[in-house]
Amino acid sequence: RLRQRLWGLPFANPLGVAAGLDKDGEATAGLFALGFAHVEVGTVTFRPQPGNDRPRVWRVIDHAAVINAMGFPSRGSADVRQRLLRASPAGVLGINIGKNRDTPIEQAADDYAALVAALFDVAHYFTINVSSPNTPGLRSLQHAGELSALVRQVVSANKQAAALAERDPKPILVKISPDMTDDEIAATAEAAVAGGVSGIVATNTTTSRAGLAETFASLPGGLSGAPLRAQANHVVRVLYRTLGNRIPIIGVGGISSGVDALERIRSGATLLQLYTAFTYQGPGLAGQILRDLSADADRNGWLSLNEIIGSEAR
Ligand code: FNR
Repeated sequence: RLRQRLWGLPFANPLGVAAGLDKDGEATAGLFALGFAHVEVGTVTFRPQPGNDRPRVWRVIDHAAVINAMGFPSRGSADVRQRLLRASPAGVLGINIGKNRDTPIEQAADDYAALVAALFDVAHYFTINVSSPNTPGLRSLQHAGELSALVRQVVSANKQAAALAERDPKPILVKISPDMTDDEIAATAEAAVAGGVSGIVATNTTTSRAGLAETFASLPGGLSGAPLRAQANHVVRVLYRTLGNRIPIIGVGGISSGVDALERIRSGATLLQLYTAFTYQGPGLAGQILRDLSADADRNGWLSLNEIIGSEAR
């Protein structure tokens, strides 16, 4: 009942690992073994880079949250490709891609295009990350005008790489921030679709510090975990109202239980990802959420996720 085929790829269940946990593709085998059906490796940058100075990650324990200002530490695309060539993933392996910090924002599209070409043979899908708060200027790329041009260039690089490899192009997704108005979310979604994306990952971390004590409120970076849940869920709802079933939405942000997972699916998410709750609850979390989803199917008699996706988006 939890199985789906999307973009021609078999997802054994809707749950995946969000980008940032396995930046260099070192832990995919273990993560699949814990029950996640997809893993989004990255963010990978084209050239290696160290990320921001430490400290750059803080736990906000009272709120089951994390603040991070990692700034895309990455061993770079060539290194990650070598590692993934040796892996035979037991699920769907996505690669989240981002621009190097020292690439001027006007040339960002060249980085993303180069990343798709470099990693084409080891990715099942790509996610264009234009929503990290930790790379200066990055979020400006998600506004409608900039985004459709960026997506078009990446889609064209994808087609070229596919022709070269004599394969079909890979699905290209875009990951967006939660810190937009409803109108901006809708405009971004339309621009992404117009550019040719196959899905939207919503959301990245928030720059909001609402409800946090001053010691945390003054930290740089993005907030994830429980305080992000309602905001990320709202974004999925707005996206679903805008997009309907045109392209799938991957819901991420503050999911920590079966209840949260069901809420996100009913708001319009076809797939789910999580990170922060895993750091608090540990390796049993995926199994627990999947059992809770199956128990809900038993109770309410649904036979496929399609029956409940978006059922409470209005
Ligand atoms: C992240 N996240 C993230 N996202 C992304 O697209 N690229 C990245 O490199 C990272 N790195 C990263 C590092 C750390 C330490 C955290 C906590 C998060 C964001 C992540 O993928 C996700 O969108 C948010 O964390 C919201 O989901 P959770 O954590 O609330 O389940």
